[in-house]
Amino acid sequence: MKKIVTTALLLTCFFAFSQQKTIDQKVDALLKRMTLEEKIGQLNQYTGDNAATGPVTINPNKQSEIKAGLIGSMLNVLGTQHTRQYQELAMQSRLKIPLLFGQDVIHGYKTTFPLPLAEAASWDLDAMELSARIAATEASASGIHWTFAPMVDISRDPRWGRVMEGAGEDTYLGSKIAYARVKGFQGKLGDLNSVMACVKHFAAYGAAVGGRDYNSVDMSERMLWETYLPPFKAALDAGAATFMNSFNDLNGIPATGNKYLQRDILKGKWNFKGFVVSDWGSIGEMINHGYVKDSKEAALAAITAGSDMDMESNAYRYNLAQLVKEKKVPIGLIDDAVKRILRKKFELGLFEDPYKYSNPEREQAALNNPEHRKAAREIAAKSIVLLKNVSPPGREKSVLPISKQTKTIAFIGPLVKERKQNMGFWSVELPEVDYDKHVISQWEGLQNKIGNTAKLLYAKGCEIEGDNIDGFAEAIAVANQADVVILSIGERRDMSGEAKSRSNLRLPGVQEELIKAIQATGKPVVVLINAGRPLIFNWTADNVPAILYTWWLGSEAGNAIADVLFGDYNPSGKLPMSFPREEGQIPIYYNHFNTGRPAKNENETNYVSAYTDLKNSPKFPFGYGLSYTTFEYSNLKLSKNKIKNTEKITVTLNVTNSGKVAGEEVVQLYLRDKVGSVVRPIIELKDFQNIKLNAGETKTIQFIIDKEKLSFYNANLQWVAELGDFDVMIGSSSADIRLRDSFELMN
Ligand code: NOJ
Repeated sequence: MKKIVTTALLLTCFFAFSQQKTIDQKVDALLKRMTLEEKIGQLNQYTGDNAATGPVTINPNKQSEIKAGLIGSMLNVLGTQHTRQYQELAMQSRLKIPLLFGQDVIHGYKTTFPLPLAEAASWDLDAMELSARIAATEASASGIHWTFAPMVDISRDPRWGRVMEGAGEDTYLGSKIAYARVKGFQGKLGDLNSVMACVKHFAAYGAAVGGRDYNSVDMSERMLWETYLPPFKAALDAGAATFMNSFNDLNGIPATGNKYLQRDILKGKWNFKGFVVSDWGSIGEMINHGYVKDSKEAALAAITAGSDMDMESNAYRYNLAQLVKEKKVPIGLIDDAVKRILRKKFELGLFEDPYKYSNPEREQAALNNPEHRKAAREIAAKSIVLLKNVSPPGREKSVLPISKQTKTIAFIGPLVKERKQNMGFWSVELPEVDYDKHVISQWEGLQNKIGNTAKLLYAKGCEIEGDNIDGFAEAIAVANQADVVILSIGERRDMSGEAKSRSNLRLPGVQEELIKAIQATGKPVVVLINAGRPLIFNWTADNVPAILYTWWLGSEAGNAIADVLFGDYNPSGKLPMSFPREEGQIPIYYNHFNTGRPAKNENETNYVSAYTDLKNSPKFPFGYGLSYTTFEYSNLKLSKNKIKNTEKITVTLNVTNSGKVAGEEVVQLYLRDKVGSVVRPIIELKDFQNIKLNAGETKTIQFIIDKEKLSFYNANLQWVAELGDFDVMIGSSSADIRLRDSFELMN
């Protein structure tokens, strides 16, 4: 039996190998037939007729250029009909090389899922893989071959508007999520419901100085390797087909022209076989950086550094041929880039059928699949973070969950009746989608939930921005009639996103004033905060009894929020980023070093590393999130307290649901390496588990600590585990450590 299995396995490997070989041979054969112009054509990508996602640089006659084989890929072309029209043009070219259609499918296609940062708050890797899978199923059915996702940039700066697009501040969590998302998008490349992933932005884009988008990044090699690169490596390990470089310069070299990043690390050390696309116009922008003097030098720098495809710069289109003729660019460089791109077109099956992904019946079915909506509702509920839930003054019970017997509910705020806002930034603008039908508003979600059992009152109160308080009186009157008030406030959906950096993270406009006015009615108040990033809302946090951070949750936002408000889903989200008290604390992150003068407590300021006017701690820490139940942690046991390098420790503990309802907890394992040849963070996430527990139930869970979890990059950039003592901390958040022990790594 064993023999048969082994033979079958060998045969599978052989066929896989010969299949690969066949693709390589096909690529080589095609390359031989291509003129230099046609080769360079494959390296150009232009935006199509849907909403442009950057500043359009030049507008060549795309139709005739495609027919002439001078364009290899398009972005912002959506739908089977539209992609087919463009592909038909490519089929009129001499070599009939199909176009690749790329798109920012960031958190869903037609069915919109929560923002990636919101989804990260679920800490549910399977759910995130599923949401990427569904996005791929819909996008691929709509003619798209390639998504520009996942964004795996670590960021410790909520001023940066693009934190909404990533997985937050932590490298471990970010790497796990990067892996899950790539798996989800790609499934098996070439399958009908698969799209190529594009891991972005390579690299360190999330560390822009001052949180200002596109700004410079200056960081140590160690920091780059230890904190910023691992999610990219994880995405690559998951099989990511493509990478996108980034707008920023890294230590003085623009990432797009950065040979160290793209050739030495990505294509060299990591042996990446896919291709790298530039970011929108980033090749040409090297002129603005002051790194090259003109478009020709920009093309030379980018292709030399390993940037294979030019998105919207026209630098390759108009300069590469000349650079080859002048022998400044060896033809081998061009061939390598072209081969990488052609290989993917073959792997996707586009040479066999260029219209493979443009089937209107499949599009129709995939885009209206009720299973997708169901999954969107579930993950939206999982993404919500319960920040606070106490009993209002004079009452016994906490405000949430709201009882279904409640007679009158006031739903107040500028976001209550919004639909499109719930989609958040980077949702796909589908021309034919009717948002009124497609997105469940929060108002509608509540109506769906309570039917006629309670009276639902509404007042807008104020706009998201501006200083008009004329609506306050009506809002107060409505609140006064209700048994409980829900306030839905926050950002506009396009306040977080690309080019949406903010220096002021307060609730915009007079919204916090509205909260104060409603709170003054003495009614029990729940505040829903809708945003794409951590905001600052200290008064609300200190005074309002119940707060749910709802981010932007997508198509099913309204239903998911209602599920949580009424306890049909017990909230389990945990923050993937630290929430600052004030902007002055930024960058703020949980896994910092101790410094030589750490403060013993939050009140100590003299000659210690502290602010004289503010605590060091965040308002809400990384990993934080409450539930309608409570969890107790007990019985921590380490299988050993001394281990050798090759040994592992099994960590065992019990978690008990000590409350009255079933719930889900994310149990977090943190380590601290007490002494290192370079200083180590005071606490670092190294593992986590999501567990479901019925009321009163206890589960025993295990973590394994191995050498990998103890390792870090030393001063010589070697990945090492150093001998010495380690603390083990088990927590419900990075600041709520419930159990501790320690062990020694010995010789
Ligand atoms: C610029 C963004 O930085 C990138 O993430 C996106 O994929 C491209 N524009 C294409 O829209």
